[in-house]
Amino acid sequence: MMKNFLIPVTALMAGFFALGLITAPVMAGDAQGSMARGGKLYDKWFKVIKAETPKATHKAWPASNTKKKGNVTWRCKSCHGWDGLGKDGAYAKGSYKTGIVGVNGMWDAPIAKIVAVIKDDTHGLAGKMDAKDYQDLALFVSKGMIDMKALIDYKAKAPLNGNAARGSGYFNTVCAGCHGATGLLPKDMKPMGKQVGNPWEITHKILNGHPGEPMPGLRAFDNAGQIAMDIITHMKTFPKNR
Ligand code: HEC
Ligand code: HEC
Repeated sequence: MMKNFLIPVTALMAGFFALGLITAPVMAGDAQGSMARGGKLYDKWFKVIKAETPKATHKAWPASNTKKKGNVTWRCKSCHGWDGLGKDGAYAKGSYKTGIVGVNGMWDAPIAKIVAVIKDDTHGLAGKMDAKDYQDLALFVSKGMIDMKALIDYKAKAPLNGNAARGSGYFNTVCAGCHGATGLLPKDMKPMGKQVGNPWEITHKILNGHPGEPMPGLRAFDNAGQIAMDIITHMKTFPKNR
C-alpha cells in the first residue's frame, strides 16, 4: 500500500537528482531532519527550545506596524514571511506588513554567513540558542525553503496546481488521526477549513511540522512542496466552522 505514496515521490526525487536540482547532502535523511527542525525554529524558536517567551516587542519591529507586539515579533516568520520573501512576499500587505527584506537573498548562502546574521545586533539573538540551533536555522534558510511563488497563486491564496484526490489520500493517512477527517480537531484549534486561507503557513507546517507538537514534517518525502499543494486543495473542501 505504501507503494502508491512512495513511488512517485522517489521517482520525482530521482528526477531532480539527475537534473542536479538536489545535491547529495540535501538528499541525506539527517539533512532533512535538521532542516525540518530549522523550519520549526524559524516558525517559533522559543517554543522549540523551551526558552522563556520574550515579552518586549523586538527592537527591529517597525513602529509603523502597531498591529503586532510582544513575543510574536520575535518569530523569524513574522519579519521575513512564511515564504521567506519579506516585503516582496505574502507580507507585502496585511497585519504583518513591516517593509523588512526577505531571507531569499541568502538562499544557497554558506551556513556560517547566515549564522553571523542571526547573531548580529539587529537580531539580538546571540547567546539565546546553542550551536546546533543556529546551524539548523541557517541550513533551513540556505537549503530548506521553497519558492512559494512557483506553487501558490498569491491573489487567490490557493495552490496553482493541486490534486484533491491525492491530497485526500495523504490527509486521511497522515493527518486525520490528530486533526479529524474534516480538520475540526484538536478542539482548541481554528478549524482547518478557515486556516486554508493561509496556504503559505500550511505549506510550511506540512514540510516541517508544528513547534512543540508531535506533528510530523513531510519534507523527507517531498521537499519541493507538491504534497502540500495536494493536501491544501483537499482542505478547501473542509467546513469553516464547527
Ligand atoms: C523583528 C524583525 C526580525 C526578526 C524577528 C528576524 N529578522 Fe532577520 N532581518 C531583519 C532585518 C531588519 C534585516 C535586515 C538588516 C540586517 O541584515 O541586519 C534582517 C536580515 C536577515 C537576513 C539577511 C537577509 C539578506 O539578504 O541580507 C537573514 C538570513 C535573516 N534576517 C534571518 C533571520 C532569522 C533566521 C530569524 C529568526 C531567528 C530572523 N531573521 C528574525 C529583521 C528581523
Ligand atoms: C500527531 C498528531 C498530528 C499529526 C499527525 C498532524 N498534526 Fe497538525 N498539528 C497537531 C497539533 C497538536 C497542532 C497544534 C494545534 C494547536 O495549535 O492547538 C497542529 C497544528 C497544525 C497546523 C497549524 C495550526 C495553527 O493554528 O497554527 C496545521 C496547518 C496542521 N497542523 C496541519 C497538519 C497536516 C496537513 C497534517 C498531515 C500532513 C498534520 N497537521 C498532521 C498535531 C498533528
